[in-house]
Amino acid sequence: MLIAANWKMYKGRRETREFLEHFEPPAGVDVVICPSFTSLAAAVETGRTIYAQNVHWENQGAYTGEVSPEMLVELGVAGSIVGHSERRQYFGETDETTAKRAEAALAAGLGVIACVGETEEQREAGEMEDVLRRQVGVLPRHDRLVIAYEPVWAIGTGKNATPEMCHHAHSFIKSLTDVQVLYGGSVKPDNAAALLSQSSVDGALVGGASLDVDSFTAICRAAIPS
Ligand code: PGA
Repeated sequence: MLIAANWKMYKGRRETREFLEHFEPPAGVDVVICPSFTSLAAAVETGRTIYAQNVHWENQGAYTGEVSPEMLVELGVAGSIVGHSERRQYFGETDETTAKRAEAALAAGLGVIACVGETEEQREAGEMEDVLRRQVGVLPRHDRLVIAYEPVWAIGTGKNATPEMCHHAHSFIKSLTDVQVLYGGSVKPDNAAALLSQSSVDGALVGGASLDVDSFTAICRAAIPS
């Protein structure tokens, strides 16, 4: 099981250090923390597995505001999220740029958590499988690539997918490619065990509930195989 914390644009260096000083990952679970770019160095110093939240596809060049795979490797960062729905929604990320970011990160030796998932409108229109087929179809096949299924309507909304909805989407993704699939979207201490107990769920990508040490620890504990 892999439990990843996506801290989004929360926690600068001081809060990152404070969290990691108090957080003891339970044995038997792989934990990845994804802080903001400015907190990466402080996070790496704690010896934990740290991923960025985004990465560019070139190793250098005139790309103002971007960070390259080589820069992350130099810092000791182990991987990156790519294609998060907030990047797609607010910053023009597409399936193609997501795939380019994933390919470059993998080529640099990084791990990748690639996010996919349908919007509420697409789900209601019966397009979930088409959307997932398209989003998954462009991604490279690689043993360091993990997919996070994050239905857009469940992110930060408190509306999580039911374990059955989650199982259906994960099984569909696994029918397309042999890959580990994390679930993301309003994972909380009180729903984590039910979601993680699905045979098709290999872990979780946690946003809001990963910002607090106790709630993130409880979610990590729910992932320990019984
Ligand atoms: P959430 O975010 O847990 O706050 O819904 C998940 C994510 O965006 O990765």
